[in-house]
Amino acid sequence: MISIREINEKDIDLCYELDSNTISLWSKKQWSCEFKKKGVKVFGLLLSNLVIGICVFHVIVDEAQINFFVINQKFRKKGYGSYLMRYLIEQCEKLNVSKLFLEVSLGNVVAEKFYSRFDFSTVGIRRNYYKDGSDALLKEKKLTTK
Ligand SMILES: CC(C)(COP(=O)(O)OP(=O)(O)OC[C@H]1O[C@@H](n2cnc3c(N)ncnc32)[C@H](O)[C@@H]1OP(=O)(O)O)[C@@H](O)C(=O)NCCC(=O)NCCS
Repeated sequence: MISIREINEKDIDLCYELDSNTISLWSKKQWSCEFKKKGVKVFGLLLSNLVIGICVFHVIVDEAQINFFVINQKFRKKGYGSYLMRYLIEQCEKLNVSKLFLEVSLGNVVAEKFYSRFDFSTVGIRRNYYKDGSDALLKEKKLTTK
């Protein structure tokens, strides 16, 4: 059975492990900082009791940002990423968020294709965004508010 639950800082090892095994975005210290930021929620996608995906979602007034979004390699291409993204979009609608942003590495063809399916469009470029010096595209999805 698939479910989504909020993850708190005591499960930081789980987050750091998935990150290290996939996109290597943050150190444990950076993860700890994310957990402490006002407006940040970390969600885990669970298959039975196993966390197979994690996202970091930051709401700032009427805008939101996805700071981290990963599905475990073994569980990709099965619709789980879409399930988690639909959940985030629902959260935005509930919170009356009008714009959802994220950054994606220039050349991450899979993620580009994935985000296009959810009508994210490129609105900017962030030079030297990643620690290896590569650039990121800034993507935005407009949402309908009530
Ligand atoms: C991007 C990511 C989250 C997608 O998760 P997923 O569970 O595999 O996605 P889904 O199975 O829901 O796929 C939805 C759509 O995305 C696209 N997609 C997903 N994987 C793809 C692949 N390997 N090649 C091409 N398109 C792909 C397809 O359009 C797919 O629809 P389809 O299955 O009908 O063709 C996952 O690949 C991932 O974790 N990647 C590494 C981390 C990353 O790049 N995160 C984003 C930047 S922070």
